[in-house]
Amino acid sequence: MGRSEANDRARLLLARYLGQLAERGEREIYVSEEAARALREGLGAGCSAAAAVAGADAPAPSAEAPSRRERGAALKEGLRAVSSDGANGSTKARPAAVEAAAGEKEEPPAGSVTQTKQPKEPPTADRPEPEIVDVTLAFTTAGAAPDMFSGASPLETCKSMSDLEKIASTCESCELAGGRNSVVFGVGNASARLMFIGEAPGRDEDLQGIPFVGKAGQLLNKILDAAGIERDDVYIANIIKCRPPNNRTPLTSEIEACILYLAKQVEFIKPKIICTLGLPATQTLLGIRESMGSMRGKLYRSRDLRVIPTYHPAAALRDPKYKRPIWDDFLLIKREYERE
Ligand code: URA
Repeated sequence: MGRSEANDRARLLLARYLGQLAERGEREIYVSEEAARALREGLGAGCSAAAAVAGADAPAPSAEAPSRRERGAALKEGLRAVSSDGANGSTKARPAAVEAAAGEKEEPPAGSVTQTKQPKEPPTADRPEPEIVDVTLAFTTAGAAPDMFSGASPLETCKSMSDLEKIASTCESCELAGGRNSVVFGVGNASARLMFIGEAPGRDEDLQGIPFVGKAGQLLNKILDAAGIERDDVYIANIIKCRPPNNRTPLTSEIEACILYLAKQVEFIKPKIICTLGLPATQTLLGIRESMGSMRGKLYRSRDLRVIPTYHPAAALRDPKYKRPIWDDFLLIKREYERE
């Protein structure tokens, strides 16, 4: 089989697979950008990518050649299932989202989601503006809560990220120091425009010393990928730097003991947008004690910094109902990110 024939066949298999999912009643099928491009442009690489991202059992490629009719039908179904280039018809590649049954254009939700019976949504361009809430952030060293930083602390005189990381690496400010393998300081672009702030390191993070490398991190990677945001371009940290026992929620005393590291990280990085992941990070940053459901979906503005809260990716791993709101929040993040 020649290369172009093989590509064609792989594309067909992917299209057929999407068609089968559509027949099974899947209303949305999310595939990687690579797979979407393969469908649109005829490259074969997307077949396995689509199966991987869809997280479903891809049918084993059959050896027998499909009939012409079958090819046509499968391609039509599969391509109908893959939104092409978004609402504005731009040629910029976008991750594919699929509204298979309805044949609608749709944005891609997080990672491997499939959901049924979602309401129709307007394309990104028509989305209503989010509610904008002006806040005074309680955690920045630059502004709002000087009393937090009034005590004598070596951190106050610390002038660089690397100095900060050095100080953090020997931190004994709370009892979590006794149980850690690593101080999980943060990772990414030290002058990122976009920063993600999670809760606390888990087991994998504690072992590797890098935030968001476990299952939740892998889902975060997929969401970033689907949103077209490079993980290497952003900065990722947590509100506390050491793993709590059994991954329990950080105590207020632990957050208080650790928050100055995060404040300094924000001061050095100077992000334009911060996305808080989950309740403890959102409540800590915003200084608001409300539920995630009421805090997310809004854009919080503190001077020229915008904070966009969303559910923690781990919530979506536990319950797929969180994938849609997380994706919606990522669309907002992406939009703000592109405005910068
Ligand atoms: N969850 C978090 O909040 N942070 C991590 O680094 C990993 C999982």
